[in-house]
Amino acid sequence: MKLLVCGGAGFIGSNFARVRLREHGDEVVVLDKLTYAGRRENVQDMAGDPRFSFLQGAIEDREAVGEAMEGCEAVVNFAAETHVDRSIAEPDAFVTTHALGTYVLLEAARERGLRYVQVSTDEVYGSIEDGSFTEESPLQPSSPYSATKTGADLLVASYHHTYGMETLICRGSNNYGPYQYPEKLIPLMILNAVHGDPLPVYGDGMQVRNWIYVEDFGRGIGHALDAGAAGEIYNVGGPDECANIDVVRRILDLTGASDDLIEHVTDRPGHDRRYSLSSDKIRALGWEPRVFFAEGLEATVRWYRDNAWWWEPIRSGDFRAYYERQYGRRLA
Ligand code: NAD
Ligand code: DAU
Repeated sequence: MKLLVCGGAGFIGSNFARVRLREHGDEVVVLDKLTYAGRRENVQDMAGDPRFSFLQGAIEDREAVGEAMEGCEAVVNFAAETHVDRSIAEPDAFVTTHALGTYVLLEAARERGLRYVQVSTDEVYGSIEDGSFTEESPLQPSSPYSATKTGADLLVASYHHTYGMETLICRGSNNYGPYQYPEKLIPLMILNAVHGDPLPVYGDGMQVRNWIYVEDFGRGIGHALDAGAAGEIYNVGGPDECANIDVVRRILDLTGASDDLIEHVTDRPGHDRRYSLSSDKIRALGWEPRVFFAEGLEATVRWYRDNAWWWEPIRSGDFRAYYERQYGRRLA
């Protein structure tokens, strides 16, 4: 199959592209705007493969999208602004990419009769104290990030309902693994621990996330793409839940850094307390996660330790200014 992978130079999209080339023999075209989070380094190991091609462009740019869709049979849309903290500080790009970008992609895919998979998030359901969200749970997003992702999901669903387009939506839980930009909890804590910098835990650190190894999420999306029914939504959740403070303690153990580095700082505004997904529906298609958190976290710490070439330019570049804005006052 020839696949268009939008946002394929980001964390999950690049891991997905790698799995599709390696395990399915697909042809992969990546369309990516290369925002701060999109990096050519994430796909450089695939660049020599004749089945792989890369186009720099935005999903809200009709011309770039038309060019990228040439000869493709399906689109998987990972392209998004993905950091909740940034959506609180500066929501503009979230609205443009999630609303306008998704619309432009849908129109172009509809014109060409392509199957379309929207990569979405458990955050559209909001926070849950007990139990797990199913695909029927109400949508109650809390942040500008999750609200705009919810808008995109609704638009995608409307294209199936109104035009009979073959659309699917995959809602994932918190991903971790190689190539994750170090603004997110796990890579941020690993790199701070390795450097002996403070580990900024928001609030009491008792917020719970449902962790999924990035290749497991990618395989779940692949199952939906290959075997899912048009118009359906599939939750793809990880096998383990863990409170943030326990994630941080595990990272300190794995890196050999001291507990004294932990600093409880001002909480994220509107912070969701717990996410938890029921994945029974995608499991019924034959998917199951392969990697438990203990083993995946160890592999992830090893990857960051072994791949300073990847994160050093990030940490010494624009990321410093972001870090200062986000944490300077909190840690002072
Ligand atoms: P990421 O920030 O690492 O990557 C996003 C990619 O999208 C980047 O390469 C960026 O350059 C690209 N992009 C952004 N705006 C674009 C635009 N307008 N046009 C084209 N490309 C654009 O994010 P990620 O963690 O890999 O997330 C990928 C998708 O998975 C997102 O849709 C996100 O909402 C969803 N998701 C993420 C998680 C998670 O834990 N990270 C969990 C569930 C769902
Ligand atoms: O649940 C899926 C979502 O997971 C995705 O849709 C998002 O794109 C992705 O960014 C992620 O959102 P979170 O807000 O859960 O991830 P983040 O890594 O930012 O934070 C994880 C938890 O850790 C959250 O409770 C906030 C907390 N945290 C985060 C950072 C960056 C801290 O305590 N300190 C920090 O410095």
